[in-house]
Amino acid sequence: MNLILKIIKFFPPELAHSIALYSLKILYKLNILNLFFTKVNTKNHEIFGLNFSNRLGTAAGLDKNGDFIDCLGALGFGFLEVGTITPLPQSGNPKPRVFRIPQEQAVINRLGFNNKGIDHLINNLKSRKFEGVVGVNIGANKNSAGQERINDYLVCLRKVAGLCDYLTINISSPNTPGLRDFHNEENISNLINAIEEEANITNFKGPIFIKISPDEQIESIMKIAEIVFNSSMSGLIVSNTTLDRNLLKDDHYKHFNGGLSGAPLMVPSTKILKSIKEAFPKLNIIGVGGVMSKDDFDIKINAGAELVQIYTGFIYNGPKIVQDILN
Ligand code: FNR
Repeated sequence: MNLILKIIKFFPPELAHSIALYSLKILYKLNILNLFFTKVNTKNHEIFGLNFSNRLGTAAGLDKNGDFIDCLGALGFGFLEVGTITPLPQSGNPKPRVFRIPQEQAVINRLGFNNKGIDHLINNLKSRKFEGVVGVNIGANKNSAGQERINDYLVCLRKVAGLCDYLTINISSPNTPGLRDFHNEENISNLINAIEEEANITNFKGPIFIKISPDEQIESIMKIAEIVFNSSMSGLIVSNTTLDRNLLKDDHYKHFNGGLSGAPLMVPSTKILKSIKEAFPKLNIIGVGGVMSKDDFDIKINAGAELVQIYTGFIYNGPKIVQDILN
């Protein structure tokens, strides 16, 4: 399996990602996935009313359309977050749009919410066999403006309400122009009010998280934390990718547009998580950003994360990172 992973790395990153996931799916369908990856027995955790088989999950973007729920679940993740999904399918930005920086264990992506649309995801959610927790990360279509953007979140909420365990409101992708404007106090309050109203109408009782950017001023992040704490939202996901290129050593990649993830994001995203948790100890936080090993996982938990997600660590280490972290 290690050999396969080494070969896959010679392909362009986006293609490599698809090949890796389809290979997993084939092994799963042939019922031989467990010959390659032994599922670790873990102890259950009851967190915000849901039952997690462990605290490690996939971050949004890894399975945008829910095409790989069962095979990812079979690797032993305690929960899966699918999406970001938008009401309408969209193709995203022109390729190439994902860049590996192996010497820094990092990735820059400017995918721009490429996805097959909410109706495709719904079919996958309905036909899943995975019995663990599945969250859906929702976003707005690129061409939606103003109130339409808010409506996009509401459409997605309404459509997946009965089909997932929790929801994430993604306001922090750097690749959809203007999306991060939802970090503004008035905009986030309006969005949260609209989400709360829709959740009541659709009778969605699961936890709802707001996924934030690591690039805002800390005062602005604390304000959002306060607004979320005083709302019926369950907490925050900290954080999405960063635009900060000072975190990179290699000058070559500093001018690549897109969000930076992986090892360089570990320290800044954990610092924000810790500051929020110190100010709002009762606010639930899912920690994500730069988890490349079990030590990083432990650091996120010790900083106050209830749950931890990975993406770039999975790209570089393959599925064995799940066992490495959980063992
Ligand atoms: C992402 N991420 C992401 N986040 C999100 O909320 N919606 C999305 O669609 C995507 N898409 C996406 C694609 C790619 C290729 C990457 C690398 C990342 C961000 C991801 O969920 C996570 O927040 C960051 O990548 C930080 O975690 P890691 O990668 O350092 O573990």
